[in-house]
Amino acid sequence: MSHRDEVASRIMVALDYPKASEARELLQQLQGIPCYMKVGMQLYFAEGPAFVRELKELGYKVFLDLKLHDIPNTVKSGANSITKLGVDMINVHAAGGVEMMAAAMQGVNEALEENPALDKPIVIAVTQLTSTSQDMLNNEIGIGGSVADSVVSYAKFTKQAGLDGVVASPLEVEMIKEACGSDFKTITPGIRPAGSALGDQTRVMTPKQAFEQGTDFVVIGRPITIAANPREAIENIIEELI
Ligand code: C5P
Repeated sequence: MSHRDEVASRIMVALDYPKASEARELLQQLQGIPCYMKVGMQLYFAEGPAFVRELKELGYKVFLDLKLHDIPNTVKSGANSITKLGVDMINVHAAGGVEMMAAAMQGVNEALEENPALDKPIVIAVTQLTSTSQDMLNNEIGIGGSVADSVVSYAKFTKQAGLDGVVASPLEVEMIKEACGSDFKTITPGIRPAGSALGDQTRVMTPKQAFEQGTDFVVIGRPITIAANPREAIENIIEELI
């Protein structure tokens, strides 16, 4: 793989669309760029597994961002079903606890035993959502201390449960890598190329800054999806990174 393609493969484009037809328009424009595609609840709840299979048939790596959070047995079964779709990355909420996260891994492993042709997906946990403020954490969710402390604590429990990494803000990557080791993966949304609109993201970094922090993947939605020219937007990002 060329260095350029390797860089592109670490960019996850958030396909936050209500319909497959709109996502297909973007795919058309990004043709030939080997980026990762992230399908979240909006598109998945509307289009289901068929669109995920379509992305896989086009040769994309797919992160199915469904953030499972339920009793361990239910999450185990859900992770099992998702793994059978043949996606490359799945996630759960770290707030579900170590037993729930370990159950998710068990569900994944059982799917792989059943169908050895499947590749093992990267399994990660959401720590604190980037929309969670200090006040919400302490007063609504009922967790004391700082958001960063909670993120690092969740990352350690995620590692203990045997998962591969966490979703976090780029501002927390260094602390997570220090606590859990450099092989423990970080996937960071909250990415804004210089000059692009923040939208509802508050704690942001540019793609270059996020990779300088040591992150493994960046998730980028609106700076690409609502750009006047999405192809130019992603190519400019790749250019800045190579
Ligand atoms: O458009 P934007 O670049 O803000 O999109 C960020 C994507 O990352 C969205 O799909 C959002 O759901 C996801 N995400 C996030 N913060 C988290 C976890 C996921 O922004 N903590």
